[in-house]
Amino acid sequence: MIKINNLNKSFVTAEGRHEVLKNVSLSILDGSCTIIGGENGSGKSVLMSIIAGLEEADSGKIECKGRPGLVFQEAETQILGETPREDIAFGPKNLGFKPEQTKNAVNDALLKTGLAAKADYPSRFLSGGEKRRLAVACMIAMNLPVIILDEPYANLDYTGVRQVNALIKTLKADGKTVVILTHEIEKCLALADDFIVLFRGEIVFQGKPETALSQNLEQWNIRNPLNSYRELKDLVWE
Ligand SMILES: Nc1ncnc2c1ncn2[C@@H]1O[C@H](COP(=O)(O)OP(=O)(O)O)[C@@H](O)[C@H]1O
Ligand SMILES: [Mg+2]
Repeated sequence: MIKINNLNKSFVTAEGRHEVLKNVSLSILDGSCTIIGGENGSGKSVLMSIIAGLEEADSGKIECKGRPGLVFQEAETQILGETPREDIAFGPKNLGFKPEQTKNAVNDALLKTGLAAKADYPSRFLSGGEKRRLAVACMIAMNLPVIILDEPYANLDYTGVRQVNALIKTLKADGKTVVILTHEIEKCLALADDFIVLFRGEIVFQGKPETALSQNLEQWNIRNPLNSYRELKDLVWE
């Protein structure tokens, strides 16, 4: 369970003080899949950094059982090894797994993330989507219970989106707690158990994903999935 109470965060720059998270309170249940939706700049990545302990809040309380695994939008910054096999093995080795256990954990993670065929490929030549899946593989191998994906659909084509969603389903089936931070809620709403909207640093909606469809999400600058085709029609045939 991740529990956040009255979290506040501001940054001070030459232009002054920017309040980036305002009184954010939320709970994420173990084994659930939660979408935190919001436009660019709404505070999603800062919230993730605070949950992961990479950034400190100004005030508020965070409870998180165990260390969450983070997958950054630019996942290549997370890759250390020459190949996926080497990269995935770092975590289990550091945790003191025996060689046989490490080998099994690496193979399991490669299979679950669809990277088995690229296990010994130079990591730097993986595509953006494969690099993100590699980051998830590292977390699977370490058996981290919470996985937070920051903009997992960025720059992905149709196949890439489907691969991310297949992976999210696998993580759910394995009992992981999954948190998806995205402005593209239409791509994952159907996978989620809970849905939260962050707008200008504040939580403005919290509920079941299906109840989101009857909301005017555009007031928070995110697209209601039911409006996607309507917008396209206006654009092309008007
Ligand atoms: N280190 C920082 N210093 C100053 N402002 C920051 C810093 N990190 C993020 N911000 C600001 O915080 C706001 C939220 O950013 P972010 O969490 O990255 O948004 P997003 O929802 O797109 O992930 C933005 O206005 C951003 O410019
Ligand atoms: Mg972000």
